[in-house]
Amino acid sequence: MNSTVHDADSEEERDSIPESPMMRVAILISGRGTNLHAILKSRQDGSLPHADIRVVICNDPSAAGIDVAKEFGIPVRVVDHKEFKGDRSGHDAAIARVLRAEDIELVVLAGYMRLLTAGFVDEFAGRMINIHPSLLPAFPGVRAQRQALLQRVRIAGCTVHFVTQAMDGGPIISQRSVPVLLNDDEDSLGRRILMEEHRALPQAIDLFTRNRIRLIGGHVSIRPGDSSFPDLEKDIGPMTPLILATGNMDKVQEIRAILSDTPLHLFTTASFPGYAEPKESGETYLENARIKASYWARITGLWSLADDSGIEVEALGGRPGVFSARYAPTSRERIAKMLEELRDVPVEKRRARFVAVAVLRSPDGEEYSAKGTCDGQIAFARCGENGFGYDPIFIPDGYGRTHLAELPDDVKNSISHRGRALEQLKDVLRKLA
Ligand code: GAR
Repeated sequence: MNSTVHDADSEEERDSIPESPMMRVAILISGRGTNLHAILKSRQDGSLPHADIRVVICNDPSAAGIDVAKEFGIPVRVVDHKEFKGDRSGHDAAIARVLRAEDIELVVLAGYMRLLTAGFVDEFAGRMINIHPSLLPAFPGVRAQRQALLQRVRIAGCTVHFVTQAMDGGPIISQRSVPVLLNDDEDSLGRRILMEEHRALPQAIDLFTRNRIRLIGGHVSIRPGDSSFPDLEKDIGPMTPLILATGNMDKVQEIRAILSDTPLHLFTTASFPGYAEPKESGETYLENARIKASYWARITGLWSLADDSGIEVEALGGRPGVFSARYAPTSRERIAKMLEELRDVPVEKRRARFVAVAVLRSPDGEEYSAKGTCDGQIAFARCGENGFGYDPIFIPDGYGRTHLAELPDDVKNSISHRGRALEQLKDVLRKLA
């Protein structure tokens, strides 16, 4: 499945687009505002450093999205369409006045469900973008998810595009795709698409407000450069979908970073609600990783990547090993229990090793696996806030007394058991594309 950004102009034109300092943005909504939330959350997290979100405009005074804007302290202007019965131009003109008064440079339609009049579209041409829950040009208009299910498509998705006179039309900036499962209904498919929308729209805003995308001669032009969404940057080229077969969000974040240089569109199991995680009943890392990878490959019809990992402590005869996650109920308790078990063990007898086995599996059973290890010793107390699991009490060889949880993510990923296992699979992963 692909994500694309259309790129049709000369390098000369692209190079003439200047860098942007801060850009004034307005967001138009009609309903619940989950896309608005994703945008404002990205802004809050520092991922939209060039977007100055001035105002949220809503055509429905009862829309839940209004509260979302308020929660983030963004001014809201309600321009109630019911007050403009039969006068769409008048309604659009009222919105345009707000946009002009705020000197808005980018208009984002984030679930704005009213057709815009020609005059309005013309005034904001090239600086208005929309998100739609289908892979346009398929299924414009309302209930796109339902249309996709009725047509029995196997791949659905979302599209961010510049707005033109055509309803849900206009030059495409980016698309993100999702698989359609056999038992999907409008809700389950809609939720899966929505998760991709929440990544696609902030990314498009980031690109626009950095002056990296522009509409030139009716085509979308992209300039290479920085982005707050490096893992999505590759969305502007062909991508291979891959399901990360783990519900552990810490692992997901780490794997995303490790695989950020591969052309993969990573899905998490959160995109497939309603499916329980499989029971990890294996006796080895390989067996457990295989159980997870094959389960999720079967459900999604995608290539699937799982890992199983643990820590083996010499003084404990290699325990807890494959049972590391089940050694105690919570991460804190696991660490406390291990420090207690090793309380009287001297420094030279505290050798330990992290082990990870990664399994990459296709829906029809083709499989690749790799093992990575990281040697070191167990500390006497926890230290550091990065990483997760046993990282705060593990001192990797070669970094003095520094704990794994004190190392920056990129350094940790270059020496960690998981990083080393996944590195060995990268050639295969790249060939999946
Ligand atoms: C989103 O799915 C968006 O793609 C769609 O409305 C929904 C708004 O959800 N937009 C369109 O259909 C535009 N034709 P949200 O209010 O939760 O962001």
